[in-house]
Amino acid sequence: MSDAVPSWWQTAVVYQVYIRSFADGNSDGIGDLQGMRARLPYLAQLGVDAIWINPWYPSPMADAGYDVADYRGIEPSYGTLDEAHTLISEAHTLGIRVLLDIVPNHTSDEHVWFRAAVADEPGARQRYHFRAGRGAEGALPPNNWQSVFGGPAWTQVADGDWYLHLFAPGQPDLNWDHDDVRGEFEEILAFWFDRGIDGFRIDVAHGLVKEAGLPDMAEGATATQPLVVERSGHPAWDQDGVHEVYRGWRSVADRYSPGRVFIAEAWVSSNERLARYLRPDELHTAFQFDFLRSPWRADVLRSVIDDAIGAAASVGAPPTWVLSNHDVTRTVTRFARSQPRHLVETDWERGRWVHEDPDHALGRRRARAAALMQLALPGTAYVYQGEELALEEVEDLPDEMRQDPTWAQSGFTDVGRDGCRIPLPWKATSPPYGFASDDNAVTWLPQPTHWAEHSVEAQDRDPDSTLNLYRCALRLRRSLWRDAGDLTWLEVAPDVAAFERGGAQCWVNTGDTDVTLPVASVVLSSTRGIDRVLPPDTAVWLRSTGSLK
Ligand code: BGC
Repeated sequence: MSDAVPSWWQTAVVYQVYIRSFADGNSDGIGDLQGMRARLPYLAQLGVDAIWINPWYPSPMADAGYDVADYRGIEPSYGTLDEAHTLISEAHTLGIRVLLDIVPNHTSDEHVWFRAAVADEPGARQRYHFRAGRGAEGALPPNNWQSVFGGPAWTQVADGDWYLHLFAPGQPDLNWDHDDVRGEFEEILAFWFDRGIDGFRIDVAHGLVKEAGLPDMAEGATATQPLVVERSGHPAWDQDGVHEVYRGWRSVADRYSPGRVFIAEAWVSSNERLARYLRPDELHTAFQFDFLRSPWRADVLRSVIDDAIGAAASVGAPPTWVLSNHDVTRTVTRFARSQPRHLVETDWERGRWVHEDPDHALGRRRARAAALMQLALPGTAYVYQGEELALEEVEDLPDEMRQDPTWAQSGFTDVGRDGCRIPLPWKATSPPYGFASDDNAVTWLPQPTHWAEHSVEAQDRDPDSTLNLYRCALRLRRSLWRDAGDLTWLEVAPDVAAFERGGAQCWVNTGDTDVTLPVASVVLSSTRGIDRVLPPDTAVWLRSTGSLK
């Protein structure tokens, strides 16, 4: 980062609103714009700078809205375009910026372009990847690519051709070598920028461009998770040609004043590869997912933080910090079991841990400490809805309730991501916990019966709750850390990650013994009553006595 006053997006705390599960205004059991509007004051009180809203466009919901049928509309069960306008302006009035989610790698199979392609209208198939099959009578898929959700990445249409879908069959991949595709998306960006949107999170930003000829993936690259296959040289991911797309997008964003911003979701093999998306004429920021893949171990956290800061600095971008999102196991549960020694390769590894009972109280202590660490770091921080309530992953959903396409596509072996997408508890009652105003509403995923104590209402009145910890941390972050500059590690003990920025310190104890703190005042601690000793699984913010403004 330069010495100039940072732009908002270089230091922001962004709250991720998973709209289906945030708040339900019409009591149909599905979150919506009306519900979100009613809860904007909650977000303002929490103290976030911006929200990122998961896809809100019309969708048949083959993948919870990541299958977009119309990029210029609003899903009818969520509301209307007029309501979206109102929401954007209400958020702005409260000082909250609004980021949308753009899904450019694929459309829905109900998108007008794909319908035309299936009908084989002239030229329509060229906007997607349609191919003849291999083998006798083309009965085999055109190549050996696997869908991220499981099974082949190809589906056959009635006349025998196959189309590519790196995700669900209802998410056909677009052909980004086609001019129509490039032109259309630049217009979609402008459509929303003209409506006051401050920026976009880009879904699967590393997937748009495929290697010419769609060659087989290398022998051995059989895993389906993007990170794993990319590392072994998969022709679908992180191709150099994708960068030209983002240079075009940047020029659209820069036409606006203030300029609009992008955050890439790019699961690539190294920080160096990630930094390529952040060159000055490309995207502004990108999620650095190693932080959410890190076990609760000071040494690993420390090296992840160093790598992320170094890579972002090499291209003048701010680092980003994510502890969880709608695709991964909730932080509380991730930290509630024995911790691996190294970065986990994929969240899909969650299956390995479920045989050990989770200790949620332990997970909560660590998640609270991790939040203080995250919010003390330089750059931008993302908070996934429910993280501020320390919700755990719901791991015992009845199989018949599961909605994530991963469940069926994996042949019912991977439970998928529903467990981190449970509707939020707002009131300390019983399901639906004020998620919908009608107490009889049936939520689209069932909520646990023990969530009253984790509800906003219950936490609001408890000074030691995680909600109040977040509120306090976000307020203090502005004065203590937001503009504090570079980070210097303090050499304390192998199990302690401690750093200083601008006269304040953050100490995190991931070990199993107490650690003596220096003489300083404790500004905030993840557990009440920390003074001279930092117990295991806790964190503190300190400043030298007398230095607080
Ligand atoms: C989104 C997922 C989605 C996938 C396909 C992702 O990375 O975050 O929720 O299933 O893209 O669009």
